Amino acid sequence: MIASDPDLMRVINLIEHTPRPNILFAAVQFLLMEGGDPDLAHFYPSLTEHPRPPAQVDRQFTDFVLANEAEIVTIGASRYTQTNECRRCVALLPAVMKASFESFHLVDIGTSAGLNLAIDRYRYRYDDLEWGPPESLLLEAELRGAAPNLHDIEVLTRTGLDLNPIDPGDAEQRAWPEALVWPEHHQRRKRLRSALDTIAGLPVEFVTGDALLTLGKVLADLPEGEPAVVMNSFAMNQFTAEGRRRIDEIVAFGRRTRSIHRISFELLPRSDDWTRLTIDDGSGLREIGQAHPHGEWVELYARP
Ligand SMILES: C[S@@+](CC[C@H](N)C(=O)[O-])C[C@H]1O[C@@H](n2cnc3c(N)ncnc32)[C@H](O)[C@@H]1O
Repeated sequence: MIASDPDLMRVINLIEHTPRPNILFAAVQFLLMEGGDPDLAHFYPSLTEHPRPPAQVDRQFTDFVLANEAEIVTIGASRYTQTNECRRCVALLPAVMKASFESFHLVDIGTSAGLNLAIDRYRYRYDDLEWGPPESLLLEAELRGAAPNLHDIEVLTRTGLDLNPIDPGDAEQRAWPEALVWPEHHQRRKRLRSALDTIAGLPVEFVTGDALLTLGKVLADLPEGEPAVVMNSFAMNQFTAEGRRRIDEIVAFGRRTRSIHRISFELLPRSDDWTRLTIDDGSGLREIGQAHPHGEWVELYARP
């Protein structure tokens, strides 16, 4: 639809941050959530109970984009793709369980609204295997491959690093990650709201800025000698290769004074759906599995 519409192509090329189509659609949904155009909102399953079929939208979407061009371009220069999907924790949890310690400080690089920092506060169901506080938000995943070894963990502190952290307790700020959820993804939206409430109720330190500049100090400021888990999910594609190398160096430097268990759950370069889950305790990177990008399934490799 966008590719065949020269007006939309012109506006999309003015959007600074990437992926541009995601930001365009999110910006429109964001403006509609604020009441931008009640008529166009009738096509959005997120904004109306009985949405009209998308095929009937005609020029209305393009006209709305043109009428709000300046605002959309501003959003595209000031906001990032900050999709925050707490169900990715179904992949992160088994990786946390492989640390050589049970009690640790948790640091999340590219945290968005910090949903992954509540990793121990969700309930998990991997087929018939369950873990976590019984009354919490349930994250279900199909288990492929080996079963995770689930045991008690204690998260001592939670720190989220982001260029632009989203305050999960602030109604206006919550609207952006919500706008990034496709209108027809009702379950994801419901899960997002519940996870935002979970993390808003926990003590979290959000550190604003480029993680290349903030991670070293965050690690140095943790209580002396106590272990840390440093994780990132779906964030490294927004760093340059040099930036990713710098992060590795900063973590390696941090290991001079404490144990650091590094977890990375990321898309493989140039892929939309191939992921790689790795851990590193300082003795070398180990690939331990892969998972659906939004946590519908997890495959853990059987290697010890
Ligand atoms: C797609 S979101 C992922 C959020 C979350 N980790 C998840 O898995 O749902 C990527 C986040 O990385 C952040 N980010 C990108 N570059 C960064 C940098 N250099 N330093 C800190 N955060 C960064 C973005 O602002 C965004 O919130």
